[in-house]
Order: sequence, then C-alpha cells, then structure tokens
Amino acid sequence: MSIVTKVPNIIVEPPGPIARKIVEMDKHYLATVTKSEPLAVERAQGEKVWDVDGNLFLDFASGVSVMNIGHCHPAVVKAVQEQAAKVMHFAGTDYYYDVQSQLVKRLAQIAPGPSEKKVFLSNSGAESIEAAMKIARWSTGRKQYIAFIGAFHGRTMGALSLTCSKRVQRARYFPTVPGVTHIPYANCYRCPYHQEYPSCGLWCAKILDEVYLDALVPPDEVAALFMEPVQGEGGYIVPPKEFLPEIAKICRKYGILTVDDEVQAGMGRSGKMWAIEHFGVEPDVTCMAKSLGSGMPIAATVFNKDLDWKSPGAHSNTYGGNCVACAASMATLDVIEKEKVVQQAARKGEMMRKRLEEIKQRFEKVGDVRGLGMMRALVFVEDRNSKTPAFKLRNEVGELAFKKGLILLGCGKSGIRLIPPLTIAEENLDGGMDILEECIAKAVGGKK
Ligand SMILES: Cc1ncc(COP(=O)(O)O)c(C=O)c1O
Repeated sequence: MSIVTKVPNIIVEPPGPIARKIVEMDKHYLATVTKSEPLAVERAQGEKVWDVDGNLFLDFASGVSVMNIGHCHPAVVKAVQEQAAKVMHFAGTDYYYDVQSQLVKRLAQIAPGPSEKKVFLSNSGAESIEAAMKIARWSTGRKQYIAFIGAFHGRTMGALSLTCSKRVQRARYFPTVPGVTHIPYANCYRCPYHQEYPSCGLWCAKILDEVYLDALVPPDEVAALFMEPVQGEGGYIVPPKEFLPEIAKICRKYGILTVDDEVQAGMGRSGKMWAIEHFGVEPDVTCMAKSLGSGMPIAATVFNKDLDWKSPGAHSNTYGGNCVACAASMATLDVIEKEKVVQQAARKGEMMRKRLEEIKQRFEKVGDVRGLGMMRALVFVEDRNSKTPAFKLRNEVGELAFKKGLILLGCGKSGIRLIPPLTIAEENLDGGMDILEECIAKAVGGKK
C-alpha cells in the first residue's frame, strides 16, 4: 500500500525557524529588492516544493515560468549529470561540440515560421534581447526601436530601454539606450484610448502607422519592433487576435523587423509551443529563455538566416551554449515531445480558465481573469466600475496562500499569475485552485 502525502502539507507555519535564519542571512548579504515570500527551499520535484522546515508546498509560480516540465525532471537531471561528467564548458563561441550543434539545429527547426533560421546562444532572457537589438541594428543599418508600454524585456541597459512595465524598473537609470519609442499595447480591459473592441477598429494597432511612424519616428530609421505575444510582467495581457497580425503587417510594409519575446510565454506555456502561434504571425527574430533549460541558464535568439552577422567578432560571449546548459535544453525538448507537454498545457489551461471564470462570478473584487493555456492571471479591483487596482487585497491573497502552502506570484498592478508546471497532476491543479478560492474568500471577508 502506498502512502499518499497531501499536497500541500504545512507542518510549521512558514517561515519556520530554519527558514527564518536563512532569510535573515540572505537579507544581510544578498543585494536584491524583488523577493516575493519568505520561502527557503530545500528540494523540489515536479510541482512539489519542500522547504527547509519540512513543509510541502504546491508550486503555482514555476520559478517564474522556468520549470514548465516541473522541478528536477529525471530526464533533465540525468542529462545534466552525464554531461557534467564529460565536459562542462568549452566556449561554444570558439570551439565545436555536438550537444551545442544538435541544440541549435533543433531550435532553428522548431522556432516559429517556416523560413530558415540561425541561432545565437546566451544565458538569460535579457541577453537574448540584447542579441536581438544588435542583430536588428547590424542587419538593417537602422538605429531606432519600437516597444510597447507594459512590456518587460529584461533589466540590462539595452533590454531595460525597451522594458516599460513598472516605473521603479526604470527610475534613476536614465539615460537609457537612445532611440526607443514606446507605444501603448492592446489592452481591452483598460483600453488606453477608452474605446471598445471591436468597434474601435483596432486603433491601437493602426495608430502605429497613422501617427507614430507618420509624425514621430521615420519608419526607414526603425530597425525592429519588440513584442510579447502575451504581456507577462505587465499583467498577462492577451491582445485581441487581429492586433499582432496588423502590427506585423505595418512593420513588413516598412522593412521593420519584428522581434517576438517568448521568454515567458514560450516553451508550451500558452498551450502552443510559441505564444505567437495563436496569432499566425511569423516574426523575424524570436527570443527564448526561462524554460528552455529547465533551470540551467540558457537563452536563444533565433532569426531568419539572412540577417546573420557577416563580420567575425561582431557579437559573442563566454558562456552562451555552455555544454551542461545545452544538454539540459535538449533533454527538456525531448520531454516536451515525449510527454506531449504542449497538449497537456492546452487541456489543463482550459480547466484553469473555466475555474477562474467561476471565481470571477463569485467575487466582485475579481475584475478580470485572463491568459492563454497555463499562463493565467486574475486581477483584483476595488470595484468593477472604477477598476481601481486593489493592491492590498492582491498581496493579502498571496500571503494567505503562502501560509497554506500555495506558491503564487504577482503581475501587473494588482494581478496574481497562475503558472504551475505544465506537467502538474490534475488533482493538484484542482487542489491549488481550491486554496486560491478559499484565500480570496477569506481576504474579502466572505463578501461577494
Ligand atoms: C518576456 C520577458 N522577456 C525578458 C525577460 C528577461 O529575462 P531574464 O530575467 O532571464 O533576463 C523576462 C523575465 O521575466 C520576461 O518575462
């Protein structure tokens, strides 16, 4: 007879005594200002996370969308161990090894769109964006960029110049890289133009051509437009289906490259391998990171092969294509195929959508539920008319859930994102949604 452990299973109120010591030391020495909850992890498997005090948590945050195939998937652990015992690092930018060649071939083949591709490997989402900025300037000879308000593309100086999600991320860092024009993203819940879809006639896309490229920035000076198919940090905002095709059409008209940032939404998270596939657009450049290595740092910038740098040394790095990271990435892609992870995400994502709609029906203070696949969020508001963000309520729900063993993460102004591993057991997905609902009920005081 097997003993089934309840998930989550809290035995000491977190943070327990051992976790508190780690938190204290961390606060003393680690330079960070983005911690979410005082969770000190001991080990993790699939969607289960054990803290140092023996509590068992259920993970609805996936290390910020990194563990799409779950923590420590045995196939990834094996590939990492085997590769580490052979060769860990050999500067893939200067020498050759099979695991890197195999990986770039595979990424070139699975990246969105049928055109032939080349791949540049790096270590983080921001670096994949930096490479995209450089390949765009290098290949077009143009110097300007367009990005969206609400976008998050990373925090290195180039990527930060495109990022426009929260004021605090940019404050005190000006001047950023010059030449970036930000335009509003399509957000039908809080339309920046105070219009209604579809009677708006898609003004949020057309304004790019009719106003920005007409009066503000000459189109023949714009190298690339950067887009998240679903805005991540900005609040899990899904644009109407015609928005990105219209934006891509305008870019094509002027020879502006489209860069698809799949760092958060990619690798099956949206219920398709790449979120852009929901919109039928082939980007010129695709940026991938996070779940690409299942926890090993690896990122890729995949682009139409004609854009490739023509001068040796025009761009490079030391760790891009690290042997162990490449092995983790190959194993991750194997698991996605073998376990039909993308299909799992589509199916379970639909379960999440239905459940979130019910939650919205029950609570007036849940103003919106949104997302694609298993990239879902709910948005707390003071009331549905004013749509004033209810920050305190959001934070309270997050804290209550943590105490009950459910790991959540915020997004946007007053949203909570729900991004469990795509491989989560259905009973744990349901169980997590039950806890979420209980916590909302408690936080709103049982009121509707
Ligand atoms: C859409 C998107 N792009 C880029 C990044 C930056 O990735 P990294 O933190 O690995 O630099 C992130 C990180 O959250 C992201 O969500």
